[in-house]
Amino acid sequence: MFTWGVSTSSYQIEGAAREGGRRDSIWDTFSRIPGAVANGDNGDIACDHYHRYEQDLDLIKWLGVDAYHFSIAWSRVIPTGTGAINKTGIDFYNRLIDGALERGITPWPTLYHWDLPQDLQDRGGWNNRDCAKWFAEYAFQMAEHFSDRVKNWVTINEPFCSAWLGHLYGVMAPGIKDLQIAINASHHLLLGHGLAVKALREVSQESNIGITLNFTPAITLGSSDDDQLAVKLADGFDNRWFGDPVFKASYPKDIVEAFNKEIPIQSGDMEIISTPVDFLGLNYYFRQTVAYYANSKPLSYKQVTAPNVERTGMGWEVHAETFTDLLIRINSDYSPKEIFITENGSAWDDEVVDGEILDTKRVSYLERHLDAMFAAKSKGVPIKGYFAWSLIDNFEWAYGYAKRFGLIYVDYKTQKRIPKSSAYYYKDRIQKS
Ligand code: FCB
Repeated sequence: MFTWGVSTSSYQIEGAAREGGRRDSIWDTFSRIPGAVANGDNGDIACDHYHRYEQDLDLIKWLGVDAYHFSIAWSRVIPTGTGAINKTGIDFYNRLIDGALERGITPWPTLYHWDLPQDLQDRGGWNNRDCAKWFAEYAFQMAEHFSDRVKNWVTINEPFCSAWLGHLYGVMAPGIKDLQIAINASHHLLLGHGLAVKALREVSQESNIGITLNFTPAITLGSSDDDQLAVKLADGFDNRWFGDPVFKASYPKDIVEAFNKEIPIQSGDMEIISTPVDFLGLNYYFRQTVAYYANSKPLSYKQVTAPNVERTGMGWEVHAETFTDLLIRINSDYSPKEIFITENGSAWDDEVVDGEILDTKRVSYLERHLDAMFAAKSKGVPIKGYFAWSLIDNFEWAYGYAKRFGLIYVDYKTQKRIPKSSAYYYKDRIQKS
């Protein structure tokens, strides 16, 4: 059976930031830094999903999907990150999971979608090796509470963004700009993933467990050897740095050399990181164009703006054929047992006209990317499911509420949800499949 689904994440939709015993995550802190998030937005209220989850589950059912991929807010269930469990937080996810199951929807939680408890950041966060252990303990607790009903787990979402965007470029929480710290964070995130796989399996042998990696293929418009090198570096930094450890138990040599920094690997780490997973969660959004820049840090390339390319509201290149090629390549490089597309989608400047949102560009993006995915599937890539990003418009991290990715529109003043044309398209396509 092919699984159709929709995705969201805790900080982007839940709101209720100071309710039910939840403590701050690094995104609450980061959002308070002047200028860190567009328009000074934050996730205090977001889509108020914490209170409106029943209505949102009804919408998920209406869409006709099989599964709901959401994330658990660590600081809601273990507010200080380690130690005492917060029953009120657990109860919320119990209601969400039960509500999904009652509607015939399979729950697919991710354990970490970037919202580290601030108390753990205060103890060093992902720069501290202990964070991997804290994460595994949290994973163990979640399995204890939910694995009677939850059979599918994603450990970590996009360690690329946590490590590089959060600790190297500082454009996401915790807002650090330091290559050595970013490398440490990347290794500890991956180590946390491996330890969490073991913890989840310890509680429940029948769990279906994976990690979600985002892959961004690169091309160059240049013809020099240097530009070809730029493509290889971009691929190493974005894709192989995270895929190779999980599936090949090693970091890519070329990037290790180019970083010229210490990688904090201890004996046994790579075996833990490459603990076999049941599936790879793959997120795909765009293709990037790069060029060689000798002085660029930390690697000698830059993203450049290719002319005459269709772009989304994020400025991201729309390139569906790349999605097919990527899936074929990942399958041949890593041979994952199964692949689930855990996120794919696009932001556009949606407008409500007479109560409707005719988001034809999102429909077109969705249609082309679904076709591209099925093209790879027909060539033998073991793709078992597709989750659209996102169920509803939400807090798009440093872009705040300005960027809308939802199949369903959210009027943030009234919290009214309005299905866009893309929601009807998705519903129809699933029905016909
Ligand atoms: C992914 C994130 C998700 C959302 C989409 C647009 O990188 O996992 O939370 O921001 O991009």
